[in-house]
Amino acid sequence: MFARRTDWSLRPNRLAQELDARRRHKLPVTDLTESNPTRCGFEYSEDAIRQALADRGCLLYEPDPRGHVAGRRAVAAYYAALGATVDPEQIILTSSTSEAYSYLLRLLADPGDSVLVPQPSYPLLDVLAQLNDAELVPYPLLYDDGGSWQPDQEALSARLGSRTRAIIVVHPNNPTGSYVGHGDLRFLIECCRRHQLALIADEVFLDYPVEASRGHAGTHAGTSEVLTFTLSGLSKICALPQMKVAWIVVSGPDEAQREALARLEMIADSYLSVGTPQSLALPAFLDSRHPIQSQIRQRLTANLQALDKQLVGQPLVTRLRVEGGWYVVLRLPEMVEDEEWALTLLREDGVLLHPGHFYNFASGDCLVASLLPEPAAFLSGIERVINRVAWISTLRSSHTVP
Ligand SMILES: Cc1ncc(COP(=O)(O)O)c(C=O)c1O
Repeated sequence: MFARRTDWSLRPNRLAQELDARRRHKLPVTDLTESNPTRCGFEYSEDAIRQALADRGCLLYEPDPRGHVAGRRAVAAYYAALGATVDPEQIILTSSTSEAYSYLLRLLADPGDSVLVPQPSYPLLDVLAQLNDAELVPYPLLYDDGGSWQPDQEALSARLGSRTRAIIVVHPNNPTGSYVGHGDLRFLIECCRRHQLALIADEVFLDYPVEASRGHAGTHAGTSEVLTFTLSGLSKICALPQMKVAWIVVSGPDEAQREALARLEMIADSYLSVGTPQSLALPAFLDSRHPIQSQIRQRLTANLQALDKQLVGQPLVTRLRVEGGWYVVLRLPEMVEDEEWALTLLREDGVLLHPGHFYNFASGDCLVASLLPEPAAFLSGIERVINRVAWISTLRSSHTVP
């Protein structure tokens, strides 16, 4: 009765089962995966948010497939502040970045066509590709001694094929936090140009640099050499995921840009998914992004510093550099697989982290934590991680026969 594309195994994984059991037994959970900003104790300007949604214009329905022009102008102003010239006509509003991905997969890929994606990266891409009958072909990101992640250019080139339609970059990536470097961008543009591919740049975390020291590319929204789709939205830029507004900026050579916009307009017209109140509120939301962004940046830095203090003086848990974004990757001893670490920490200590394999890390020794949780919870969770790892290492080494 059902389509094969929805033939998922819907059985909760072991971590979800353990979490469910804890919650049923009313046992406390310190959630180090929390990345819903509306639950992390930030101060939102409540009056401004309510006022922004009270525009009388929302009593009128004037559908525009690209989204209300007032909203698109505000998005263009956001890019102007980043130094990119974007015309509101180059913008399509969507209800989420995930929806934007779906539009693009619909636009670019026939069933069986493929799109290159970084690995490790954001797991929702797998489901979005499946729902849109596209194949994802991963290209590895490699972590170097200097503490930065780079696309493996050789592997990426080898994976380009006759059915490849686009290359996705996540800038900065979730969860590695890595931005696309200038050199990498040149390489990617060259690949796209040579193989007639589109470049899709997911920039939802662009405004959250943390330890970004090496020079990296800015927004892709001004890219003109190849057909480029730049995605972002309110869920991270303004920490307002509940408002359900995101966008696609289309840039590139004139003709390809025009054709892409006309086709996207047709797709968007079939759904008209962005509500008028949110579209009209977009200028006010974007104008007021700085106070919430600065609270979030302070939180990211404070939690990272607290983590570093805990890591000093013990050799077992380390972390990778966080160029940007909301996450940190922890490295634990390989004596236990990432999933086992996550299960043990939840069962024994009530601390929830994501195992790296959720994000397709090549090695099995990574756990991913969000840097958004409130500082006291973050610190106590991290302390328990470090103590548990020390305890298990001691146990294991005392049972090792020399
Ligand atoms: C890299 C990345 N892209 C897109 C999204 C989805 O954003 P939206 O809430 O706009 O669908 C997320 C959500 O966490 C994300 O991490």
